[in-house]
Amino acid sequence: MKQYNVGIIGATGMVGQRFATLLENHPWFNVKVLAASPRSAGQTYEQAAGKRWKMAVPMPAAMKDMVLMDATNDIEKIAGMVDFCFCAVDMKKDEIKALEEAYAKAECPIVSNNSAHRFTPDVPMVVPEINPEHIEIIKAQRERLGTKRGFIAVKSNCSIQSYVPALHPLRKFGLKNVLACTYQAISGAGKNFETWPEMVDNLIPFIGGEEEKSEQEPLKVWGEIKGNEIVKATAPNITTQCLRVPVSDGHTAAVFVTFENKPSKEEILKLWADFKGVPQELQLPSAPKQFIHYFEEDNRPQAKLDRNLEGGMAVSTGRLREDSQYDYKFVCLSHNTLRGAAGGGVLLAELLAAKGYFD
Ligand SMILES: NC(=O)c1ccc[n+]([C@@H]2O[C@H](COP(=O)([O-])OP(=O)(O)OC[C@H]3O[C@@H](n4cnc5c(N)ncnc54)[C@H](OP(=O)(O)O)[C@@H]3O)[C@@H](O)[C@H]2O)c1
Repeated sequence: MKQYNVGIIGATGMVGQRFATLLENHPWFNVKVLAASPRSAGQTYEQAAGKRWKMAVPMPAAMKDMVLMDATNDIEKIAGMVDFCFCAVDMKKDEIKALEEAYAKAECPIVSNNSAHRFTPDVPMVVPEINPEHIEIIKAQRERLGTKRGFIAVKSNCSIQSYVPALHPLRKFGLKNVLACTYQAISGAGKNFETWPEMVDNLIPFIGGEEEKSEQEPLKVWGEIKGNEIVKATAPNITTQCLRVPVSDGHTAAVFVTFENKPSKEEILKLWADFKGVPQELQLPSAPKQFIHYFEEDNRPQAKLDRNLEGGMAVSTGRLREDSQYDYKFVCLSHNTLRGAAGGGVLLAELLAAKGYFD
């Protein structure tokens, strides 16, 4: 496979650090640029991020002495050094939109973890096992932006990465109503227990903007390309409640679902067991071999025990049973900073690379 030079925009942040560790020994992608705000630019990665390093594994040795570039003021220079960039920055939504478009217009494709462009109609929001065909909208986006190579592709919010994969293979039975309560880890807010001690022995029943994302993003992921845009699906009807819980990593969802045509429990289990997507067919380096794992034990999946399944890229399910108000209920879990953030971004980039979008 061809090798690609890549940059990480927002390298000093929580998601940026995760990108750095995931890309350390990547077989296709070589990190050539690390960039962050003007506050960090000019410092080495170790100087800028060493004291706020939040990963369980050390900072990649080859990146420690790399000098951070200025993500907002060095765009042309960065675009000239890499084949594409990952982006995960904490800025205002309008600023992120403008920043990502500026990179795309400088002919540097952007694979983004930010939410700013998720509902831009010609920006694909991709879970590679579910809607890989949405990357075909990039042709229309390039026409709008007037670019030859440059484009923006985004991954979805971490909250939906647990229940949308489990619901996806069941769509053939007609998903009617979905209720999902999510129990979200503190790393989703860029925090750990040292930086957010108030979360020890606590639960906060509100995560700003999360319920809207959790209800709307699945409809774009299940949408269809029509002309120059992705048109959202109109079903199922989704309602959510998103809670912050005292867990370091791993978002859990308790899901209730009704169907147009109710399947049997065995049919659901078989569809989960057999579910393979394009990443598995193409054997992309970060793809889990088995995307959806089902646990028979009543007390699984558990965040602490099961979030790292298949490098944190698989989705765990359990407790599938009939319900008195909905047809079925079940529980699912995914690692929010791996599958739900940087790992999902790397897998999307692998899909784009395999399909020639960085050439
Ligand atoms: N944490 C998660 O699990 C998660 C999951 C999915 C998506 N996301 C999204 O990913 C993005 C980053 O999240 P995070 O948790 O990694 O945030 P974070 O830890 O606060 O890191 C923010 C990064 O943005 C950079 N930055 C801030 N202002 C900038 C500017 N004006 N110009 C250029 N760079 C700037 C920071 O650089 P300095 O260090 O120089 O300030 C830092 O590298 C957010 O949009 C978030 O919503 C996060």
